[in-house]
Amino acid sequence: MPIRFDEKEKIFHLDTATSSYVMEIFEQNYLLHLYYGKKIPDHNLKRLKYKGWFASFSPMNRLVEDGGFSPDICMMEYPGQNTGDFRRTAVAVRNADGNNATDFRYASHKIYAGKPALAGLPALYVEDDADATTLEITMRDEVTGMRVVLCYTVFEHLGAMTRSVRICNDSDRPARIESVYSTCVDFPTHDYDLITLYGRWLKERTAERRPIARGRQGVGSLRGSSSHHQNPFAAVVSSGADEDCGEAYGFNLVYSSNFSFDIDSDQNGGMRVLMGINPDGFDWLLAPGEAFQAPETVMVYSDQGIGEMSRIFHRLYRKHLIRGKWRDAKRPLLINNWEATAMDFTGEKLLSFARVAKELGMEMLVMDDGWFGNRFDDHRALGDWHVNEEKLGSTLHEFVEKVNEIGLRFGIWFEPEMISRDSDLYRAHPDWCLHVPGREKSIARYQYVLDYSRQDVRDYIYGLMHHVLSTANVAYLKWDFNRNLTEAGSAALPPERQGEIFHRCVLGTYEIMGRLNRDFPDLLIENCSGGGGRFDPGMLYYSPQIWTSDNTDPIERLTIQFGTSLCYPASTMGAHVSANKRTGYDTKANVALWGSFGYELDPNTFSAEEREIVKAQIAEYHKYYDVIHYGDLYRLIDPAQNAFRAAWMFVSEDKSEALVTSVVMRRPPEYALYLRLKGLDPEKLYREEASGEVYSGASLMYAGLNLFGTDLDDGTSFKLYFKEVK
Ligand code: DGJ
Repeated sequence: MPIRFDEKEKIFHLDTATSSYVMEIFEQNYLLHLYYGKKIPDHNLKRLKYKGWFASFSPMNRLVEDGGFSPDICMMEYPGQNTGDFRRTAVAVRNADGNNATDFRYASHKIYAGKPALAGLPALYVEDDADATTLEITMRDEVTGMRVVLCYTVFEHLGAMTRSVRICNDSDRPARIESVYSTCVDFPTHDYDLITLYGRWLKERTAERRPIARGRQGVGSLRGSSSHHQNPFAAVVSSGADEDCGEAYGFNLVYSSNFSFDIDSDQNGGMRVLMGINPDGFDWLLAPGEAFQAPETVMVYSDQGIGEMSRIFHRLYRKHLIRGKWRDAKRPLLINNWEATAMDFTGEKLLSFARVAKELGMEMLVMDDGWFGNRFDDHRALGDWHVNEEKLGSTLHEFVEKVNEIGLRFGIWFEPEMISRDSDLYRAHPDWCLHVPGREKSIARYQYVLDYSRQDVRDYIYGLMHHVLSTANVAYLKWDFNRNLTEAGSAALPPERQGEIFHRCVLGTYEIMGRLNRDFPDLLIENCSGGGGRFDPGMLYYSPQIWTSDNTDPIERLTIQFGTSLCYPASTMGAHVSANKRTGYDTKANVALWGSFGYELDPNTFSAEEREIVKAQIAEYHKYYDVIHYGDLYRLIDPAQNAFRAAWMFVSEDKSEALVTSVVMRRPPEYALYLRLKGLDPEKLYREEASGEVYSGASLMYAGLNLFGTDLDDGTSFKLYFKEVK
């Protein structure tokens, strides 16, 4: 059983194939955390109880007989506030009396097969209850009548678990939730490094590593989106951990708005790790009888380095996060017009793209921004989702018919959460955007953010989208989001609920995305936010792929794709070959193949030679699709740590094939390089396709590939494909 409760010892033991998570119901029903890490058996686990140095400053509970106990110095599973634990609290609730003291104690629990859905929120799921086991622990604060339900789901065979929290107000008076973290894990030491993913527009998800210091530290977003700037992912790794060795704890929040990842290391050298909705600016009024569902955190543990942590995330997300038809169906190879034309296109121009694209083997034409209202530049028309038939030269239905007759499927762009100041919608409903009375609204990209906390606003926008999607044969939708939230107030919420706006807006977005998934089950949605500004598991629940970055320079893409791969699988990363001049088409494609592949250029500009190159790339895309989309990723040379090269490889699950790619970013000082491969079967023989050379898996991994003689010019690259010799 992956989850056990020892009645006698009062211990919860949650096991995956490789990790254990252990809690104890202590005296007076305090729920203590005992352990999270490499798998351990049930034996004398109470001894794991961490007690720091007890001092006269340590608050005690008179009713507890164990003299060493203080909430201030023990590992607490879900600590409240203002009752003896001085570290950053997991949950803060201000009650109707005006004070914020809470102290949640164990009340009951249940264990069951499967995994529950979370009301209104994206979350990992199972199709077969045998794939996961869930523990729900109910904790009560007797004084305020607040109840929290801690939900743990164990994916035993995947080495992962999820956590979420629901707060219920069982009292007869309203209360205000001031913070609610989804995960709180106390560790007995802070002797770890922290890895986070920082960035900005055009430079998303670059990995950064630093030792964990004493005191508070962490990352977060207050932008109303998960953001380009910090991703809701963090890894706590043992100090010497690398791709293959050491411990790695990965945390990823299934949420697309303001998040916070915090570490608070204490006076005894331990640390508390917290992840959840960012408490800054958050304030939720909970009426009697109401419940608040906080988002889910995914937690992955690996004792085989950071590389294995990533592979666990990838396997988990491919099967238990990505949903619907496109989880398993092959994604279409698309051509998008944005980088070639921006909004300066006509229907005829796009049809010319489609004809060449079809000849070359592409499968879908995506019409990006600029097809609606008078959207000739980014100053106007967001919200006016009516097809500009003059620009297209026909109705959308007729246009898509022509694209389909050419032999391509058709995709379209939307930015449903936005409204241009210069739009018919804004003129008709100036109060439909987020705003604060009496205060000038900040404008970004000439647009405001619609108030998605409002059902009427959502219904109106969804109605327009539904109409467009129903009038033509639309197979794909690119959902964009090109600014962050400011003056986040709502005309429809009372003053005491204005602190709920960020969360209500993202719930509104999830609702519309869920409706799209239900009403158009075959529609492939690609998420986008000025590139990868909302690359998070919340979005992946509704859209199986996300445009990784507006930066299509293949060299700069390397650090972005390496960072993104820390927890997101290749199939989720939209990656296109563009007209960017930095490298030749071979390197552009070698980098873009590590993702959901496509092109973003005018195919009419290809020379005869380039057409042949592109045809060959498309053949390679088909050939390597399975090993890239379903295989295991091994990062071999990290471009953030090596000034000259990057290298990575994919290995099929049965280890019968592998694809190795390497890119020279800058001419290296040495000619010789033995590139050690990973993840192969040492006993198997592999033939490298281009040279016909046969190697043992052992020699490829332990001695390495001798790369002497490969091209060393800036921007060059190669791929090597290995197939098992039977
Ligand atoms: C930002 C996206 O990242 C681009 O790919 C493109 O869709 C533009 N928006 C369109 O406005």
